[in-house]
Amino acid sequence: MALLFVNACMREESRTERLARAWLERYEGEVEELRLAELGVAPLDAERLRTYSAGVAAARYDDELFAFAQQFAEADEVLIAAPFWNYGIPARLHAYLELVCSQGVTFDVDATGAYVSLVRAQRLTFITTAGGAEPDELDDHAFGYVRTLSTRFWHIPDVRCIAAWSADASSTSVDAVLREILGEEQS
Ligand SMILES: Cc1cc2nc3c(=O)[nH]c(=O)nc-3n(C[C@H](O)[C@H](O)[C@H](O)COP(=O)(O)O)c2cc1C
Repeated sequence: MALLFVNACMREESRTERLARAWLERYEGEVEELRLAELGVAPLDAERLRTYSAGVAAARYDDELFAFAQQFAEADEVLIAAPFWNYGIPARLHAYLELVCSQGVTFDVDATGAYVSLVRAQRLTFITTAGGAEPDELDDHAFGYVRTLSTRFWHIPDVRCIAAWSADASSTSVDAVLREILGEEQS
């Protein structure tokens, strides 16, 4: 598969999506997009957790619940775009990542208890915009969370963040910030 674009932008006029589209314009290759705003991504509740646990225990991943994880595992590269919400990510992206973290599909645990990656991607880019200033690392539950999953579970060597902070400040030219960041960050 090609690049998987996980679009977790919720507003039609989303600045984060604009930044992601600008990044994608420079990407040469096939792109598969998931628009989470339009997809029903249900979190694991009691019933779904039973299905999840039974699938993982039996190493049977044919339930639709594992489809996101299978698609993620096969991606050559991943781009996630999400606005910075409440020091973290939109709940729908969290629900999506919950499903992507399916043991036996995107990662496994070896005999020593260490995580083994089952994903193909060697690069994951996280794009965000935030109304306020860049938070301290300890307060960043957006890229910080995505980076933890990417490095601990999936062992993705190249995990990067492109962010436009203070996007709600009237004096901020989002376009100028975005262009500058894009020029610096994309290889
Ligand atoms: C529900 C919600 C929560 C937000 N939480 C934060 C926050 O914790 N910190 C911050 O700097 N901005 C916060 N913002 C502002 C957004 O990060 C900012 O407007 C962002 O650029 C929106 O991205 P979008 O244009 O792609 O929707 C929040 C906005 C919303 C709607």
